[in-house]
Amino acid sequence: MFKVYVTRMIPEEGIELLKKYCEVEINPEDRPLKREELLEAIKDKDAVVTQLNEKVDAEFFHTAKNLKIVANYAVGFDNIDLKEATKRRIYVTNTPDVLTNATAELAWALLFTAARRVVEADKFTREGKFTGWAPNLFLGKAVTGKTLGVIGAGRIGQAFAKMSKGFEMKILYTANTPKEEFEKETGAKYVDLETLLKESDFVSIHVPLTPHTRHLIGEKELKLMKKTAILINTARGPVVDEKALVNALKNKDIYAAGLDVYEKEPEITEELKTLDNVVILPHIGSATDEARRDMAVLVAQNIIDVIEGRTPRTLVNK
Ligand code: DGY
Repeated sequence: MFKVYVTRMIPEEGIELLKKYCEVEINPEDRPLKREELLEAIKDKDAVVTQLNEKVDAEFFHTAKNLKIVANYAVGFDNIDLKEATKRRIYVTNTPDVLTNATAELAWALLFTAARRVVEADKFTREGKFTGWAPNLFLGKAVTGKTLGVIGAGRIGQAFAKMSKGFEMKILYTANTPKEEFEKETGAKYVDLETLLKESDFVSIHVPLTPHTRHLIGEKELKLMKKTAILINTARGPVVDEKALVNALKNKDIYAAGLDVYEKEPEITEELKTLDNVVILPHIGSATDEARRDMAVLVAQNIIDVIEGRTPRTLVNK
């Protein structure tokens, strides 16, 4: 029977679906597996459901001699050596679409939280410091009518931009090529990165991590941003030079940042935790019941596609 290993427990809907077609083994612990445990577990498996923080490389493929598919439980797949998988004719799949809105919504949550200083104000209130309305208490930045800069207008970037509809914003975006439909629908303007950084009040990152996007935002780019601007990152940590960002936040080169991802995840630059003008979340972009359920079903469907001799529906190494 086709054997599947699931490296972390995922919603039951995906597991139940898989169990109808194959033998399923799941990491029983609520923690990431140590590398040796992972390699031991995948040895005899035909499919592995992997997480974005697991390195799927030549050693992984060499160990899993029967492997036919790696179904990554994420839309990003920078944890996987695609070239190596393709060379070995192993399918790699991801979970696009089903987490688009969840991730775009979290980018908005970060944007508003940073703009209106929600975390600082909450802490202040809990600490019993609220003694009455005051004219200068926690002034933040307005959102309505401002300019929104979207770096990377793929699925999530476009969804994020479309969600600005009620806020009457001007939208600037970067992408590999202009997106005609998106422009028609939103009035967004295709610009280069420099223009976007200089003119936007809010800059939100939605590019995948590739050698080309690593440190796309560094000291030079942060200096181009307005002093009143806010940077949001729900994509991948290494797209931003975290050291440069800490300096920019400390020096008030930008107003604030909202982060869901970090350069050396799960490590976070200690100084970030001491700054008031940054909101830091533990990589929860797709963490809604709905998105995670649909992601679980999609990884199962991809594996079942392989069992039944079809090309998996969300293949990334075509
Ligand atoms: C993904 O799926 O790549 C996201 O980072 C998960 O939150």
